[in-house]
Amino acid sequence: MKLAPSILAADFGRLQQEIEEVANLIDYLHFDVMDGHFVPNLTFGPPLVNALKDKIEIPFDIHLMITDPGLYARKFKISKEDIISFHIEAASDPKPIIAEIKSRGAKVGVALNPTTALSAIEPILKDVDLVLIMSVYPGFSGQNFINVLPKIRQLKRQIAEQGLNVEIEVDGGIKASNIKEVISAGADIIVAASAIFGQKDRRKAIEELKRASL
Ligand code: DX5
Ligand code: ZN
Repeated sequence: MKLAPSILAADFGRLQQEIEEVANLIDYLHFDVMDGHFVPNLTFGPPLVNALKDKIEIPFDIHLMITDPGLYARKFKISKEDIISFHIEAASDPKPIIAEIKSRGAKVGVALNPTTALSAIEPILKDVDLVLIMSVYPGFSGQNFINVLPKIRQLKRQIAEQGLNVEIEVDGGIKASNIKEVISAGADIIVAASAIFGQKDRRKAIEELKRASL
């Protein structure tokens, strides 16, 4: 399992320290970029993410919850180990977005809301590096996990049947009590905000999640 803590539940007033405190325990840092249109919440955009990019060495996992991913994806500084994911619901023409992110050498992910069927991403499954399955309605941290386990299993099967090299990331409502079933269903990367940055001892919370995932 790879772990991608979301800074959404971190203390933004001391963001760099918050991140450095957990840096050696995590695989990615997950950034929830929200525009107040695609989701009913506003967070941050390229200025903040790019400023941290110069200071933090962990790979970035940028989750775009915005109506115009094609326009804004290119404004993020990325290197080859980073991921940018856009929502299929926001992309009328996903192919140029995928091509643009790939042309900069980074990994590209496609995200799906809980109610969006896997058939929506079928035509581009072979073109992406990752599928981000939402297990809450995007917009806020601290929501309850929606049971998307059958969807994860089905996607895992499709990826295997087609012989693809596509990772599955699951995002929303994951904590020590349910992480194991998400992993068993087929998740490769786990996102968690409140289960990590919402806890007093973040390092202990990460160790607990890792233990619970085994
Ligand atoms: C929701 C975001 C998630 C969120 C997860 O819109 O995409 O990444 O931060 O928060 P938790 O882990 O608290 O559900
Ligand atoms: Zn997210």
